[in-house]
Amino acid sequence: MILVKTFFAENPLRNYSYLISESESGEAWAIDPFEASPLVEYIKKNGLVLKGILNTHQHWDHVQGNTPLGQAFDVPVRRLKNSDALRLSEEYTLEALDTPGHTLDHQAFVWKIKGEPHALFSGDTLCNSGVGNCRGGR
Ligand SMILES: [Fe+2]
Repeated sequence: MILVKTFFAENPLRNYSYLISESESGEAWAIDPFEASPLVEYIKKNGLVLKGILNTHQHWDHVQGNTPLGQAFDVPVRRLKNSDALRLSEEYTLEALDTPGHTLDHQAFVWKIKGEPHALFSGDTLCNSGVGNCRGGR
């Protein structure tokens, strides 16, 4: 089973970070870590094995937790190519989808179960206060 832990940062930008973990292996991936410490605490408390960090795009409010989180568990930041998929378990994958607009390099991640879309991590393509702005790549 896949567990998705959501971390909400109380700031004017209302950032969300995610930790996706597979319950049997304990392997986990972080998406857009804004603040590292809540994720570090959760990973340690639950005995998870962080495999890497993914970012939807390079705006500071999506990457500022990369360095402290990566250093805490000695894991890399991964950049996937369009349609590349991480295998989370036998049935679950996380597939990268290029979604240029908010920034030129923006990606969303599609969580699939047995190849069928189940959930979308949309980054700033869709924001919780409206659609993401398109600034032409900044
Ligand atoms: Fe952004």
